[in-house]
Amino acid sequence: MKNKSRRPWIGGNWKMFKTIPETLDFIRELLAGMPNPIRTEVVIAPPFTAQHALGREIQGGPVQMAAQNVHWADEGAFTGEISTRMLRDAGCAYCIIGHSERRHLFGETDAQVRQKLLACLKAGLKPVLCVGETLEEREGDKIQDVITRQVQEAVQGLSLEDMAQGVIAYEPVWAIGTGRSATPAAAQEVHAFIRRLLEDRFNKTLAMEKRIVYGGSVTPENIRDLYAEPDIDGALVGGASLKPEKFLALIKEVN
Ligand code: 13P
Repeated sequence: MKNKSRRPWIGGNWKMFKTIPETLDFIRELLAGMPNPIRTEVVIAPPFTAQHALGREIQGGPVQMAAQNVHWADEGAFTGEISTRMLRDAGCAYCIIGHSERRHLFGETDAQVRQKLLACLKAGLKPVLCVGETLEEREGDKIQDVITRQVQEAVQGLSLEDMAQGVIAYEPVWAIGTGRSATPAAAQEVHAFIRRLLEDRFNKTLAMEKRIVYGGSVTPENIRDLYAEPDIDGALVGGASLKPEKFLALIKEVN
């Protein structure tokens, strides 16, 4: 049975897609079609360049904004980087941390993920901490080792209050952008494992209250069965978050 006190959470990770006008077209259509009442927490992560414009459109409404990445320093000589303060300034409430594309394409390490997580918490940005195994790791029976390492290295030493912020996203690398989602049962197994890890490291209440969302080829067609699993609290969506009608359909399935 799903713990109903965990509000559903749907995030759209736009990755490197959409200009400012495209962002504005999207958000106007999304807001016009949002279910009312809305129980689901809805979050969009546009590219940096569209944050300011999106931030203005969503003020006071049911949609929140996330950044896709951040640097851990407050400020400094870090060409091409963005600070937590800049993200807050643009209107971000959340920040995606440790997405597999950052880890695998840009060499982000567990230590850097931790630094980013700490910087976000300090700045009042809620983290979307991404973890997930590669196909090789799955086939080598390493899922639990990898997930344990990624979660543990990121959250070690955090207070319960900090741990309660934001969500964890389980995104198996082999399921991202491939059209090959994890089966609901396979995803559920890892979500339950993450919850057990949280219970071991923190406590049962934290583990029961923490939202753990799934990412990897989520569509309006497969979200219902994924969300029906007891430990899957929503989704972090790439491709299917780029079209307002698809993103709305996803929200409606869990709301
Ligand atoms: P897709 O939904 O396109 O597979 O992307 C998932 C993802 O990486 C979300 O962060």
